[in-house]
Amino acid sequence: MRCPRLWLIFTWLLGSCLHSTNLISMVKFTNVNCITLDKPFADFAYCKLKALSRDKVALSLRVKLFEIPVNNVSLNVEFFKKYNGYRPFLFNKTLNFCEFLRNKKRIGLLEIIFKFLEPHSNINHTCPYNNDIIVDRLILKPNYFALLPLPAGEYRIKITVGAYNDWKAIVNVFLQTWE
Ligand SMILES: *[C@@H]1O[C@H](CO)[C@@H](O)[C@H](O)[C@H]1NC(C)=O
Ligand SMILES: *[C@@H]1O[C@H](CO)[C@@H](O)[C@H](O)[C@H]1NC(C)=O
Ligand SMILES: *[C@@H]1O[C@H](CO)[C@@H](O)[C@H](O)[C@H]1NC(C)=O
Repeated sequence: MRCPRLWLIFTWLLGSCLHSTNLISMVKFTNVNCITLDKPFADFAYCKLKALSRDKVALSLRVKLFEIPVNNVSLNVEFFKKYNGYRPFLFNKTLNFCEFLRNKKRIGLLEIIFKFLEPHSNINHTCPYNNDIIVDRLILKPNYFALLPLPAGEYRIKITVGAYNDWKAIVNVFLQTWE
């Protein structure tokens, strides 16, 4: 998919036509798993979900960095939707994360993800990273997705994190939405 932005606009328009108001009424995490690809570089102290109530599930994770400062971070973010197994859906993007942090306005969908992540994490600063990366009790809310066409279903977001042109870790987040 070479033009994610165009595709995003198209599906958003389609979504807006099919559902004139709020797309989803409930959204929650259903699973998470974290994989380190380079233990001497970074490892997960924890990576877990905690159910707070029927419709609230909190995600927390902590990444320990062993080779600081980390000045070069890249991300690949892929969306999947479950049909018969998880299939690529809507979004697959690789970016230079340090550059993104310097100029957040530029990448639509990631900007949305980042907006709900930043109050629950310590990643909201420009590179370098010198401390453990922490996400603390992140909870999804339907209104975060008001601008995103996510029909009811099960999704997987695969976030692969790299540094200095080498993939270091994978975070797989599974979530479910209801209309
Ligand atoms: C996403 O794009 C990368 C290249 O940027 C590719 O290697 C990968 O297979 C793609 N993933 C999917 C699910 O299409
Ligand atoms: C994240 O950082 C930017 C720029 O430093 C700031 O404007 C914004 O309020 C911060 N967001 C949060 C949730 O702290
Ligand atoms: C930093 O990352 C970018 C890709 O995100 C890459 O093009 C560049 O070569 C990297 N720099 C170093 C010093 O590894």
